[in-house]
Amino acid sequence: MKPDRQLILRELGLGPVWKLRAPAAALDEKGAATTGSDSVPQTEAAPPMALQSSAPPAAMSWDELAGTVAACRKCRLCEARKQAVLGVGDRNADWLFVGEGPGAEEDARGEPFVGQAGKLLDNMLAAIGLKRGEDVYIANAVKCRPPENRTPAPDEAATCRPYLERQIELIRPKLIVALGRPAAQTLLQTEIKTAAARGKLHDYHGIPLIVTYHPAYLLRTLLDKAKAWEDLCFMRRTMRQRKDA
Ligand code: URA
Ligand code: SF4
Repeated sequence: MKPDRQLILRELGLGPVWKLRAPAAALDEKGAATTGSDSVPQTEAAPPMALQSSAPPAAMSWDELAGTVAACRKCRLCEARKQAVLGVGDRNADWLFVGEGPGAEEDARGEPFVGQAGKLLDNMLAAIGLKRGEDVYIANAVKCRPPENRTPAPDEAATCRPYLERQIELIRPKLIVALGRPAAQTLLQTEIKTAAARGKLHDYHGIPLIVTYHPAYLLRTLLDKAKAWEDLCFMRRTMRQRKDA
C-alpha cells in the first residue's frame, strides 16, 4: 500500500477501528494481498459448461447461475473482461453487500472487492463484527468489468440485473447494503443520490435495503468519514432489529 493511502486511511479515522488485517508489506503495488490468502473464502467456481442453463435466471440453481454468468455474452461488458465475477461468500448469509462492478484486480482474480476498495470494505465489515465469507455475501451490480472502471451504463446494469435478482432470491438475506449509487439504482430501480438515500430504510421486495457510500469513494474523499460510520451503526442496528423480530 502506498503511503498516501495509509495517510488517507488514517485521516479517515480507519486506523484504530477499521484495522488493516494484512500488514502493508503484504500488499503488492496494486493493493492485492500477497499473503494470508488461506483465510479468504472461495469464490464461486464456474461449474462445467454442462451446467449452463437456458432457463430464465429466475429459475436457476446456484450451479446453473454460476455457469451461465461465466459464459454470459448478453451485454458488451463481456468483450474486455478476463472473467465474469459472480460473487463470494456464504450463500445463506444474512448480510448482502452489493457493489458496482469488478475492477482490474477483481477481473483478474475472479472475486469481488479484492483491490484497494476491497480492503476498505473488509475494514468496514470488521468494524461491525463481520468478516468476508462468514454470514456475508458480496456481489456486484454487473458481473463483468467495465473498461477503464467506468460506471456501468444503464442498459448494461439492466441486462445483468436478473443474475443479481436470482442471487438475492437464493441467498434470502435479512439486509441488503447497496454500496454507492449504481448499486442502489440497480436494486431500487429508481434514480437516487447517495447523500439523500443513505440513513433511510429502503425496500427490495420485502428485504430492508440500506444505501451507503461506495468504499472507493470513501478512499477518494475525506469528507464523509462520520457519515460512513453512522451508516455502519445504522446497518448493525437494523440487523439486530431484524434478528429480534
Ligand atoms: N468496486 C466494486 O464496486 N466492486 C468490486 O468488486 C470492486 C471494486
Ligand atoms: Fe452478462 Fe452481466 Fe457480463 Fe453483461 S455484465 S456480459 S449481462 S454477466
